[in-house]
Amino acid sequence: MKTIAKRYDREARLYDLYEWLPEKLVFQKHRKRIFPELSGKILEVGVGTGNSLEYYTDKADVTGIDFSPKMLAQAQKKLNKLGKQNIKLMEGDIENLPFQDNTFDIVVTACVFCSVPNPIRGFKEVARVLKPNGKAVFLEHVKSNNWLIAFMQNLMNPLSVRIFGFNMNRDTRNNIEKGSLAVQKDKHLALGDIVRLFVCSK
Ligand SMILES: C[S@@+](CC[C@H](N)C(=O)[O-])C[C@H]1O[C@@H](n2cnc3c(N)ncnc32)[C@H](O)[C@@H]1O
Repeated sequence: MKTIAKRYDREARLYDLYEWLPEKLVFQKHRKRIFPELSGKILEVGVGTGNSLEYYTDKADVTGIDFSPKMLAQAQKKLNKLGKQNIKLMEGDIENLPFQDNTFDIVVTACVFCSVPNPIRGFKEVARVLKPNGKAVFLEHVKSNNWLIAFMQNLMNPLSVRIFGFNMNRDTRNNIEKGSLAVQKDKHLALGDIVRLFVCSK
């Protein structure tokens, strides 16, 4: 098992607790807006403890994957409580997706590419499994374009990787483009230019 997957396994039971504040202050309101709009055959990668699951409507036929079995187990508990029949969860690695080419209408992530070990390979896999007219939707935190904030993010990055398993300083837009996807929309949502919504096509 990859080191980062082990790290998420280790923190799975406490994840919702330490993410409570950023979730309430930053991410929840964006999930509430983004996820109900998604319909068709959807792949959510890095589903984690399932913080987005409640926002899917029954127009979405969702497969959620994660490479940490213990994060997935937390998500499964939430899914059982929600009782949604249109969502299924399974173990899988975004760098080697267990799906055929051109399978999904939408691939979506929330706060995932900060921790994917090889993000460019991950984006290439997203491009591969998307249908030709499909779209990829990434709600992600990234490295700021402000040099002082970026300097602080670089400084703190080794600590956040070691303790939590995520990077604070990923140049995600650049990685998306290197990963064979075209950015159609890049919206700054919160914390200046750190929390962003990318909508991409093949
Ligand atoms: C910061 S958590 C976010 C979880 C969830 N998306 C959310 O918004 O709360 C990142 C998740 O991505 C998963 N992840 C990271 N790299 C992955 C990969 N290569 N394949 C599958 N899942 C991955 C981790 O296991 C973890 O559950």
